[in-house]
Amino acid sequence: MFSYIRDRLPWGDKLPVSQPRLEELMRLSGAEPWHAHAISHRQSRRHACVACRWLAEALPTGAHVFEPGCGSGANLLWLGLKGVGRLSGADISAEAVSMGRQLAQDMHMQLDIWQDDCLKPARLPDPVDGIVSVNWLYHIPGASLDSFLQTYAPALKPGGYLALDMVTRHYDRQPGNQWHTMDRALPEAQRRPSEYTIRLDRQEVEAIARGQGFRLERDTCFVLSRPQRAVFLLRRV
Ligand SMILES: C[S@@+](CC[C@H](N)C(=O)[O-])C[C@H]1O[C@@H](n2cnc3c(N)ncnc32)[C@H](O)[C@@H]1O
Repeated sequence: MFSYIRDRLPWGDKLPVSQPRLEELMRLSGAEPWHAHAISHRQSRRHACVACRWLAEALPTGAHVFEPGCGSGANLLWLGLKGVGRLSGADISAEAVSMGRQLAQDMHMQLDIWQDDCLKPARLPDPVDGIVSVNWLYHIPGASLDSFLQTYAPALKPGGYLALDMVTRHYDRQPGNQWHTMDRALPEAQRRPSEYTIRLDRQEVEAIARGQGFRLERDTCFVLSRPQRAVFLLRRV
C-alpha cells in the first residue's frame, strides 16, 4: 500500500538543472523540445520515475545501468544521483546524445552515451546489472517487446533487472485510438497512424518475458494516465 502511494507522488524525482541552463542546452544541442519538457516536468512522468526508482532499489550501490532510447539521459542522470555507479545509454538522435553529454558534464557525472538504432544496435554494453527502457519502444512502428527482450537479454547479467513501461490495452478501447493524437481533428485521409504502436496487458508482458528468460518481479498500472501505462520490473533468470 505504501509503495502504491509512493509511486504516485512526485517526490524526489527532479533533476538539478536550472531553467535558463536547460534553455541554453536546448539551443546548443538542437534537441527536440520534448527533451526540455522531460527534464523540467520529470516528476510528472510517473512511468519513467517509477521504473528508475524500482531499478535503483533493486540494484546494489555502484551497479552499471544501460538505457536504450535514453534521449538526453535524464533517467540515467537521476540514477547516478541515487548511487548507480556506471551509466551508459544510446539514442538514435545525435542532438539528444549531445545534450546528454552536456548535462552529464554540468552534473559532474560520467555518462557513456552514444548514437545508435537501439532496435538493431551496432553496439551493446558489456553485460550490465540493470537496464531501463521507457517511453520509446512502443512508439516505433514494427517494434515488438519479444524481439526487444531477445536483443537485450545478452546485455544483462543473469540475475540482472530490466525496468520498462508499456501502454496497456485500455488504449485499444479509446475512440480514435488508431489515429495519431495530434491528427484527430483532421479529415480521416490526412491522419497519421497512432504513435502508440504497441499495447500490451500484464499477462501478455509476463508471458513474453517468460519466453525470453525473464521473470516478472513487480508491476503497477497508472490507471488514470492517458494513455494508460503500466511499469514492470523483470529479472533475468
Ligand atoms: C519520448 S523520448 C524518451 C526518452 C527517454 N527514454 C525518456 O524516457 O526520458 C523517445 C526517444 O526515443 C528515441 N528513439 C526513437 N527511435 C529510436 C531508435 N530506433 N533507437 C534509439 N532511440 C530511438 C528518440 O530519439 C527519443 O530520444
